Amino acid sequence: MGGDITKEFQQVAHAYPMLSLGNSYSRDEVADFVRRVEKAVGRVAYCMELKYDGVAISLSYRQGELVRGVTRGDGEKGDDITANVRTVRSIPLRLRGTFPPSFEARGEILFMRARFEELNAERAARGEELYANPRNTAAGSLKQQDPKDVARRGLDNFIYTLQGEQLPSRSHYENILAACQWGFRTPDPERRFIERASDLEGIMAFIDHWDKERHALEMDIDGVVIKVDDLRLQEELGLTAKSPRWAIAYKFAAEQATTRLNGVTYQVGRTGAVTPVAELEPVLLAGTTVKRASLHNADQIGRLGLRIGDVVRVEKGGEIIPKIVGVETARRTGEERTVIFPETCPECGTWLVRDEGEAQHYCPNEHACPPQITGRIEHFVGRKMMAMDGLGGETVVELVRTGLIHDVADLYDLKKEQLLALGKGWGEKSAAQVIEGIAASKAVPFEQVLFALGIRHVGETVAKKIARAVGSIDRLMTMPKEELLSLDEVGDVIAQSITDFFAAAGNRRIVERLRLAGLRFQVEPSQHHVAGDKLKGLTFVVSGVFSGYDRDGIKEAIERNGGKVSGSISKKTSFVLAGADMGPAKRQKAEELGVKIIGEEEFDRMIGA
Ligand code: IVH
Repeated sequence: MGGDITKEFQQVAHAYPMLSLGNSYSRDEVADFVRRVEKAVGRVAYCMELKYDGVAISLSYRQGELVRGVTRGDGEKGDDITANVRTVRSIPLRLRGTFPPSFEARGEILFMRARFEELNAERAARGEELYANPRNTAAGSLKQQDPKDVARRGLDNFIYTLQGEQLPSRSHYENILAACQWGFRTPDPERRFIERASDLEGIMAFIDHWDKERHALEMDIDGVVIKVDDLRLQEELGLTAKSPRWAIAYKFAAEQATTRLNGVTYQVGRTGAVTPVAELEPVLLAGTTVKRASLHNADQIGRLGLRIGDVVRVEKGGEIIPKIVGVETARRTGEERTVIFPETCPECGTWLVRDEGEAQHYCPNEHACPPQITGRIEHFVGRKMMAMDGLGGETVVELVRTGLIHDVADLYDLKKEQLLALGKGWGEKSAAQVIEGIAASKAVPFEQVLFALGIRHVGETVAKKIARAVGSIDRLMTMPKEELLSLDEVGDVIAQSITDFFAAAGNRRIVERLRLAGLRFQVEPSQHHVAGDKLKGLTFVVSGVFSGYDRDGIKEAIERNGGKVSGSISKKTSFVLAGADMGPAKRQKAEELGVKIIGEEEFDRMIGA
């Protein structure tokens, strides 16, 4: 993946560019590759490896010490995510044995399948939405601002290449084995994770093996990589525009299976969106039994021309949920039945609506439709929202079912005795934990409260932007649509959704009750970062972590007060704004150039926060 560059991390140039591989999807293309190589440099040894499906990382070691971890980025420069990389167990911070004084180890950061499933089980227990696939989750995890959050995720790493001037061997294979001795997690030759061959036949044997066995692996791979083993020959073969002539990736085709569509069921989510789900005759696909596939919406069913009883082709790419990619129309018997999208909600019987231009059908009965009630409450209590400890999806369902709560505001009226009276499964400790979690949630900042309200289309990022720009719920509730549209990240759909949300008396009542319960409905002064031109003409370089701001927040604060933010320290820098964990290199540079270093408190004083 890579490619996308976030502004939260410092950008650094790679000492050696991070190339990408040419892809091939057929054995003929692999044979062509071998012919091209041998035409150029004669017969050679090849090294075959697994193609890990994760996130590329470049790790710099100096005197055996991990000094930097950088994402691939655009191949030339990437994000410095050293603090996050240091939390990955299989990345050694200090090497053993005899290693080159300075080199880079490149590899892939990924989730082992077991760990990924565990993470999703934890999310399910908390009533949170599941992660779709290990690769994207690994990428997202590495972009977390707090390394502690990254550590908790439990990522892993495999090294697939070394770059440097004084590597132990001319053979890539030997170098990888040496890296294992220094403490890296490297591919295991005994398990055929890495292997050498002297001809096409050997390469094909490796491809055959993994094409069959890949589903039994403990991590996802999306192909194998074939490399010329000799580093000097690699150099001689050189590069094309973007990828090396000495290596090629062979990608496995996404696996397909055919099975019968037994029926279509409909799921109602917390926003009332109705999603059709294909109920399939169970079929083995990519190592797991598939029984259901998402159909997204009515249009999707139409596009596929799907009929109940059809033999369908299901495919599993990197996603956990398989998709239907086609219908075997030739195998129809005439017994198949058209899929008729329901006109009423399968959960509460209300007439469904479909807004113009939207593909999704919605159940508008938001206050009485059971999955919408529980879904909204589950969303509200989630970790990134009100973060109520001890309140998972099952508990929410129980509280709604037993009539203790009907909406999110009811949570704040709950008494410990009421929970204890539920009997089975409830004890002094669990009841106290829930009540304490609810009480503690009152301290959650406004931006999270806004996200927790569950306004359709207002996700985490949008809620944050809106909270900071608008400052309070009172202002947001009375903002005309035109004014909403002038906000960053807010387009027509979001503006309309916000207006509709606050136009509903039921929602306004809930906001009032939450306000009475003591929730935060305005940004705190340090978050709001004042505004003005107190910093006019001043240029800041920001480094480290801050207690009252996140990375974006502190930059916004500078800009809102008329200052400029720059990425690197120069003579033109007015101040280096240092948080905890400021890099030693920056401190040294600031000192050399005589640039004043200030802390968060002094900064707050400057802007009058
Ligand atoms: S070698 C010049 N080996 O695939 C080639 N890459 O498109 C440098 N990858 O960004 C990469 N497993 O993240 C190599 N055994 C392996 C790999 C591997 C996965 C990824 C890597 C790179 C992409 C190449």
